[in-house]
Amino acid sequence: MKVLDSKFAQGFCRLCVDGFYQGWHERNGGNLSYRIKDEEIAAVADDLDESGEWKEIGTTVRGLAGEYFMVTGSGKYFRNVEIDPAANVCIIKVDDAGENYKIVWGLVEGGRPTSELPSHLMNLEVCKARDPQIRVVYHCHPTNTIALTFVLPLDGKIFTREIWEMATECPIVFPEGIGMVPWMVPGGREIAVATSEIMKKQDVAIWAHHGMFACGTDFDITFGLMHTVEKAAEILVKVMSMTDRKRQTIEPENFRALNAPFNVNISEDFLYDKKSGIIGEY
Ligand code: 13P
Ligand code: ZN
Repeated sequence: MKVLDSKFAQGFCRLCVDGFYQGWHERNGGNLSYRIKDEEIAAVADDLDESGEWKEIGTTVRGLAGEYFMVTGSGKYFRNVEIDPAANVCIIKVDDAGENYKIVWGLVEGGRPTSELPSHLMNLEVCKARDPQIRVVYHCHPTNTIALTFVLPLDGKIFTREIWEMATECPIVFPEGIGMVPWMVPGGREIAVATSEIMKKQDVAIWAHHGMFACGTDFDITFGLMHTVEKAAEILVKVMSMTDRKRQTIEPENFRALNAPFNVNISEDFLYDKKSGIIGEY
């Protein structure tokens, strides 16, 4: 089978298009990776070229040795993925040491995988260790979430609680909450380590003044998670544009009441008593 006829490649491209139309991918902003299943890579083996040269990942991901990944290209625009996937996306293979990769398909007009490859692979590695079903890592630049990183404290507990209060389904969709990465230089190992520390336990990490990372078992779940957080962030931006305090909200006892009917275990870490009525203060 041709790569572009496969369901995984089509799901990958669809997420890129959907993300672009949400306004989350100005220019080359954002990147996407997918850990390909053994049977999926076997089905497209005839379309792969294994003769490429090994290049350094920039970090070590032993837990992903020998695996294949579909990833967006560095400097490529999500906007163009639909019209020419083979020029904007590639499939890479990771070597047995987990230190090098080679391109086996795509980027036909040249280029290299996303500059955030260390973050994607380190996240995929820790996610695989906690749940082997997690295969997608998605990074985008969603406006409202980024805006909040200028006004809320950069504290995962506070961010999670304020976002959760904006939509009842939030703690059901991401009961482990959101982790925060302070502003850091993007594209390297340091920010990858900080993000993967969060992804050991949580599905969402926000990069202050930059964007968001989400992981999931498939494209729908991962896109839906990103969409849910960003929608709640949009509501919070609107509320904060009207007032610095709420008249009423979803209270800790309301969140606790969701556990049994929705079969979730909402962490008490985020259900602290608020002493101040000001949004974003304890
Ligand atoms: P790439 O074009 O290298 O994927 O970078 C985009 C980006 O969002 C960096 O954080
Ligand atoms: Zn980015």
